[in-house]
Amino acid sequence: MRAPHVGEEQRVFAWIEQRFADDASARALLDRLKYEHCEDECFAEELTEMLARLGAADSTVNAETAGYMLRGFFTSVRRHISFEQECLRGILVQHLGGEPTAKFL
Ligand SMILES: [Fe+2]
Repeated sequence: MRAPHVGEEQRVFAWIEQRFADDASARALLDRLKYEHCEDECFAEELTEMLARLGAADSTVNAETAGYMLRGFFTSVRRHISFEQECLRGILVQHLGGEPTAKFL
């Protein structure tokens, strides 16, 4: 989970930081996206541990709780990706000289 986030932060976010260095809303957007990366990574770590225990037939793991955690994780990741795509599309439009559909945040 961390590797794609690092790639995104080092390439895409760095590109935005260079071109929009004076834009407070761009900085706030990147801070929010980085925070969401961190949250998803922590959630993934908890899931990994829980799934390992489930795979080892640990009877203390509740299957319904596992399902709930998995749904929550994927909902969070989908929401992040959707928000990120929408924001980055707006930034690209602005960079290319078009009219942004909305401010970053
Ligand atoms: Fe992301």
